[in-house]
Amino acid sequence: MLDILADMRRTHHCNALTGKDIGKTVSLAGWVHRRRDHGGVIFIDLRDREGITQVVFNPEIDEHIHERAQVIRNEFVIAVEGTVKKRPDGMINENLFTGEVEIIVSTLKILNTAKTPPFMVEDSIDVSEAVRLNARHIDLRRPRLQKNLIIRHRAAQCVREYLNGLGFLDIETPFLTRSTPEGARDYLVPSRINGGQFYALPQSPQLFKQLLMISGYDKYYQIVRCFRDEDLRADRQPEFTQIDIEMSFVGEENIMAMSEGMIRSVFKNVLNLDLPGPFPQITYAEAIDRFGLDRPDMRFALELCDISDIVKKSGFKVFSQVVKNGGIVKALNAKGCSGFSRKEIDDLTAFVSIYRAKGLAWIKVKEDEWQSPITKFFSDEEKQQMKDRLNMETGDLVFFVADHPKITNDALGYLRNHLGKKLGLIKDDDYKFVWVTEFPMMEYDDLEKRYQALHHPFTAPMEADYDLLEKDPLGTRSRAYDMVLNGIEIGGGSIRIHQKDLQERVFTSLGLSEAEYTEKFGFFIEALDSGAPPHGGIAFGFDRLVMLLCNQPSIRDVIAFPKTQKATCLLTQAPSDATFEQLEELSIRVKKETTA
Ligand code: AMO
Ligand code: AMP
Repeated sequence: MLDILADMRRTHHCNALTGKDIGKTVSLAGWVHRRRDHGGVIFIDLRDREGITQVVFNPEIDEHIHERAQVIRNEFVIAVEGTVKKRPDGMINENLFTGEVEIIVSTLKILNTAKTPPFMVEDSIDVSEAVRLNARHIDLRRPRLQKNLIIRHRAAQCVREYLNGLGFLDIETPFLTRSTPEGARDYLVPSRINGGQFYALPQSPQLFKQLLMISGYDKYYQIVRCFRDEDLRADRQPEFTQIDIEMSFVGEENIMAMSEGMIRSVFKNVLNLDLPGPFPQITYAEAIDRFGLDRPDMRFALELCDISDIVKKSGFKVFSQVVKNGGIVKALNAKGCSGFSRKEIDDLTAFVSIYRAKGLAWIKVKEDEWQSPITKFFSDEEKQQMKDRLNMETGDLVFFVADHPKITNDALGYLRNHLGKKLGLIKDDDYKFVWVTEFPMMEYDDLEKRYQALHHPFTAPMEADYDLLEKDPLGTRSRAYDMVLNGIEIGGGSIRIHQKDLQERVFTSLGLSEAEYTEKFGFFIEALDSGAPPHGGIAFGFDRLVMLLCNQPSIRDVIAFPKTQKATCLLTQAPSDATFEQLEELSIRVKKETTA
């Protein structure tokens, strides 16, 4: 029979039956989660995506069917028909929704066998991620991952409902396109028909959504894949999903209110959590000053403090020289940590060196003295000033970094996050949102020796800073905003430039010649000159949002088929070689690395 289940269609999923169903004849289907043989009676935990139900093969009730059940192993696919029975007293499993009942099987169909899986289909397994990703189809059966993907689905539905309700239109944009600059390398796709030419996969739909505003669509959204060839981390994938949004005739406060409403609705629907509002806002400058990073984790205090003015003339040459050369000295007071061992301090010194700090000076505040390799270099007045500014009290351990502002802030900013975790300052299930605003328009890229847009070059400068665009490009602030949750940037956007002239000025201040920007963005400048409304938008990292909703450490845990740190897919073995014929058709010759 081709349709093996024709006479036995499923009546319930595996997380449905309770005491109310006792006596019913039911059919279930699923995977064999666990099989136990108790004195001749075979118990099977039957699993599907919803849960587990215990099914029983008892030789005293049906010898033949019990005999057939002998061959069943983990991960076999079976269908059973039987009667729902109350479990005997003492056998009730309180931890299982279906724990009150079991199914006494009268018909068994073995729908498929399965090789022994490379790991147990359970949450608490101790295998490497590589092994899991290699057999992702098995890995995805684990309850945790199934829950994550269900939450992902719910979050996406909630976002759609919210935005649809506000009159947004879901409009698709191309994947085979021109480069959209978001600061990463492009993934290129060779064109067969136009030999030697390439499409770029979009780093985001940025220009298309702006074009849609120019075309009068007013409110756009898309839950869309973006592609970026960049160094991968726990919260970065080469292809990831954005909730991409654009609105016409708006200011910052409209986009922020809409975004907060969306996030609030997602948290209510998925976690049944009422987030307080409105979310606080701080400027980029304040974020860097107080927390070292532009995505501050607001779940704990522990703030950085600039002491450059106090130590600029001190006898500790490391500090005074740095200040003289335009650097800064900042400190972090780890309250109550004077008991840290030498080894712990050495480990933290190694930690900050990752962020290129050349050292980590420290002072332990003891009852009657400061213990430190550096106190001897400071005058009493300098010590008193430090004590006052850093609120140094007995039991404290103060850390110092002296370097270029960027290195000092990075090192102490990441040290702050590290200490937040190490010292247990972060409460479970705490969600702290903050908007970061007034980002600089651009930064100087030391490697490439040129200015680069901090957000993207279509972001509007703050009107008060228009004059600075040419005079002080690095001092020009933009109308960009990021939404940060628990120290992770979950969304970012800006009010855009809608005037052709201003757009050209910004390209120029970024160091692009007229010929360069016309070649890259001529079509877009034309469009700005055809009646572009004021507009702005935002994009949320959907994977990051879901990662936080699921309380997972990596976005790989909320993506069905993620890539490894080396941007490979272990399941399908992508990327892979192309055949000679394929390359010929694409007019491409591959340079093979030789190891000679
Ligand atoms: P941005 O580059 O800030 O803005 O991206 C928006 C959000 O996308 C997420 N994100 C990523 N998530 C996973 N893996 C990655 N490699 C990755 N890169 C970014 C982040 C980030 O906040 N077009 C603009 C938005 C706009 O201006 O409207 C943009 O793409 O959570
Ligand atoms: P040294 O004089 O090199 O023995 O350093 C004395 C202390 O200052 C050590 O604890 C170093 O880790 C620390 N130190 C050295 N360079 C820096 C720096 N740039 N910023 C902060 N601390 C530093």
